Amino acid sequence: MKMPELYGVIGQPIAHSLSPLMHNTAFAASGCQAHFTAFAVDDLAAAIAGVRALGIAGVSVTLPHKTAVIKYLDWVAPEALEIAAVNTIVNREGRLCGYNTDVAGALNALTEKLDLAGKRVLILGAGGAARALVYGTVKAGAKVALTNRTPERGLQLAKEFGAEFVSAAAAAGFLPEVLVNTTSVGMLPQVDALPVPESFINSGMVVMDIVYNPLKTRLLEVAERNGALTVDGLEMFVGQGALQFELWTGEKAPVKKMREIVLEHLRENV
Ligand code: ATR
Repeated sequence: MKMPELYGVIGQPIAHSLSPLMHNTAFAASGCQAHFTAFAVDDLAAAIAGVRALGIAGVSVTLPHKTAVIKYLDWVAPEALEIAAVNTIVNREGRLCGYNTDVAGALNALTEKLDLAGKRVLILGAGGAARALVYGTVKAGAKVALTNRTPERGLQLAKEFGAEFVSAAAAAGFLPEVLVNTTSVGMLPQVDALPVPESFINSGMVVMDIVYNPLKTRLLEVAERNGALTVDGLEMFVGQGALQFELWTGEKAPVKKMREIVLEHLRENV
């Protein structure tokens, strides 16, 4: 009898991760003999040795380990190396291969709404999620600017990927057609906070928020009210998860089911 394959997410903290729910639903829907669990990991080196020793088939990597994990892997995809972040490990007969599906997950969510080539994109924030978005939108041929509370951090990220840094005061003057919030502004419990003034948003824009608790942030509410197209935080989360599933199983992900189960959970718990 073939034993089910084991998958898991490693991070710290990890208790509230929705990845086990999403991936177990996907495995069940696709008839895969596999189980996905969450591991709270402090000692990353030991955890990766454990993945090898136990023959864990695939790993999702989340904060704070996405960069540090690179040095423990046998091969890393060029794109993941360029942004210095791996969120997916595939165990290929003992060879641990690292990928980044955050970039494509975010980009797919945006390109469902518009073609990014030549568009003016403003990214708010300069953390890990901003890195994926700046890298991805620059690669897609957009004109990218970013702004950040701590200017030094923003400047450095902009320089690294060939984007422009703008101060918060000058951000509206960039005349963005796409606005992406990667900061935690608007996340529970500060649900009334807006990362940009309301007057910033107009009907011609696509506005994306990577925050998914709450799913409809104040930013997205305002954007909708002003006639902008919106992309919520669930799209990126499910998008990166669907690409992980495809790397692990070689099969097309049951995206609709994955989105539904996460949405159901968020409706009940947030
Ligand atoms: P992640 O890796 O998840 O993107 P992060 O590295 O903690 O998270 O980055 C969070 C981003 O949100 C940063 O750009 C941060 O700005 P700073 O670089 O100035 O810290 C931004 N951020 C967090 N809280 C904020 C707030 N209250 N106002 C404005 N920006 C905020």
